[in-house]
Amino acid sequence: MKKQTLVITYGTFDLFHDGHYKLLKRARDLGDQLIVGVTSEIFDQNRGKLNVQDELMQRVNNVKKTGLADKIIIEEYEGQKINDIIKYNVDIFAIGSDWKGKFDYLKEHCEVIYLDRTKGISSTELRSKKSGIIKLGIIGYGRIAERFIAESKFVSGVNIEGVFGLNLSRVKLFAENHELSFHTTNFSTFLEKVDAVYIASPHLTHYEYTKKALAADKHVLCEKPLVLNVDNATELYSLALLKDRVLLEGIKTAYSPGFLRLIGLAKSGLIGTIKNVDATFTKLVNQNCRELNAKEAGGSITELASYPLLAAIKILGRDFENFYFYSYFDSEKKVDLFTKFNLTYSNSIFTGKVGLGVKSEGDLIISGTKGYIYVPSPWWKTEFFEARFENPEYNKKYFYKFEGDGLRYELAEFISLINDRKKTRANYKLKVDDTIQIIKIIQAFIDKENVKEI
Ligand code: CTP
Repeated sequence: MKKQTLVITYGTFDLFHDGHYKLLKRARDLGDQLIVGVTSEIFDQNRGKLNVQDELMQRVNNVKKTGLADKIIIEEYEGQKINDIIKYNVDIFAIGSDWKGKFDYLKEHCEVIYLDRTKGISSTELRSKKSGIIKLGIIGYGRIAERFIAESKFVSGVNIEGVFGLNLSRVKLFAENHELSFHTTNFSTFLEKVDAVYIASPHLTHYEYTKKALAADKHVLCEKPLVLNVDNATELYSLALLKDRVLLEGIKTAYSPGFLRLIGLAKSGLIGTIKNVDATFTKLVNQNCRELNAKEAGGSITELASYPLLAAIKILGRDFENFYFYSYFDSEKKVDLFTKFNLTYSNSIFTGKVGLGVKSEGDLIISGTKGYIYVPSPWWKTEFFEARFENPEYNKKYFYKFEGDGLRYELAEFISLINDRKKTRANYKLKVDDTIQIIKIIQAFIDKENVKEI
């Protein structure tokens, strides 16, 4: 009996549309049987496709409903196509013409056919029609604002429209360099032109900008630390709730795929009961920078502690009982150049170390009764970690991708929360209460509670 011709194709199939249907039909017509690979969420995240709206099962069901697929598989990793083609003994690999040339490397294993793509429709377009493109304005024009623009290119459904700042020549230059459609030094004009703002200005300006933006019905993504005291934070979150706007603190690690998986693994029981967490973040800076300026709320804790505190709150919870700080201060500048701090819980302990004037290893260790998880520096850009045990035969390594600078993850989360307000309430990656607890610790340090100078 003649072997049946087996065709395979792959796609995300988000917001299933006519282009998808026609592609599947054409692919099916090339042979006798069709296998369809649907991308998993993590695979899409890893290749920078961050705004897929339908969940995996929904996308699978939509492909199934066409009746064109004889088999549906999940595409989970880079390089899987070759393995699938060999495993299923595939004759033809078919894909839309937008991929022309990209899959020629598969020719070694089967025939590769690029099929005409249906004109005038795509998931990207449907996503933006459904939710509209969010017009975002940036407050600030420093290094982080620069990086944010570069990262925003990887997130669909958002366009950076303009920039606000106090220095006219600097905002003008910034807008020109990044081809933004406007720049202004007038905050009301700025707010009128956007749906949402990203605050990347110095710490002490966050509160006013956030409050004014929310009052004007804008969504706010604010760099960490959102504010430096709990009363301000509570007030801002209440205002966001009242206005039904999204207010999100930009601790990028919290939204990154590797860190989310690390937390899941740590809490799975694999290393037993967690008794201790150590997290370090140091960054040497030059003497005259804003980070060391007390008048601008500089210092190691205000600048850097959000990251280790995120690890503490996410792994050990929000119910710490006590905290202690041990700091090395610059006597002239009056800022902490290094601080080691402990949070004590009823059953466990956290130690954080941050430094702008002292260097240390930036790793994270989660210690449990059966083993520990080691995350090497820079743990806050979580890409790799290892679960280690007394018997090293059981050690296991985990790898994830942390794309670019990571700001794309916080922006993607922000956009997705704006587009689906139900998610805002269920947002688990960085809850309002998580942010509040982190700010509580930073405020305690500023108020000199339990701070011992070394
Ligand atoms: N496809 C097509 N015609 C379209 C859109 C997609 O033939 N108008 C094809 C793609 O070339 C691919 C398959 O459908 O072979 C699945 O593509 P997918 O990436 O899921 O769809 P897009 O609409 O292109 O999604 P996005 O805009 O997110 O890239």
